[in-house]
Amino acid sequence: MENLLEENKQKYLDLIKNNIKREGIDGLVEYLKKSDFFTAPASTKYHSCFAGGLCSHSLNVYNRLLALVQNEYGENWQEHMSLESVTIVGLFHDLCKVDLYVTEYRNVKENGNWVQKPFFATQDKLPYGHGEKSVYIVNGFMRLTRDEAMCINWHMGEYDMRAKAGMSLGDIYYKFPNAFLTHIADNMATYLDESI
Ligand SMILES: [Fe+2]
Ligand SMILES: [Fe+2]
Repeated sequence: MENLLEENKQKYLDLIKNNIKREGIDGLVEYLKKSDFFTAPASTKYHSCFAGGLCSHSLNVYNRLLALVQNEYGENWQEHMSLESVTIVGLFHDLCKVDLYVTEYRNVKENGNWVQKPFFATQDKLPYGHGEKSVYIVNGFMRLTRDEAMCINWHMGEYDMRAKAGMSLGDIYYKFPNAFLTHIADNMATYLDESI
């Protein structure tokens, strides 16, 4: 597990180094290294709810999004979404989960004895939302393009509280189709590459 965690961290940092040349990226990388990003889970009890799950989920979304964009747009795919944008959106879409999870303990009976078992809970220090919070965090270091901001902001699709409250995803996804591809990539990573 330790090895996998280190391996994923290296893959993640290499992708950033090779694919992202934008001003401000160094500050964002420093922030991530100081945070719990590389050891955090991706959820409390759903997909990739293990230490390092958030980094591994982000890599899965990057890979899925790259394949979707290449398949959808063909040879000249970078005219529609550059490799830099795919990397930014894939790797940073869930930065809202940085410093969000805490380990708590509950008493469980095992062989007639009560023992304390750890579990992940959330403690949101910045309750800004989900996709919109990731956009806010990234923009604090590095300017996102409008398309990247829309992709990250709307990656949750129908699971987003704002969509449940009536905002039209159709309107959003017709205007910003890469945001739709990002949502599909997030779902494919969650349900096809990961498990509970
Ligand atoms: Fe998310
Ligand atoms: Fe995600």
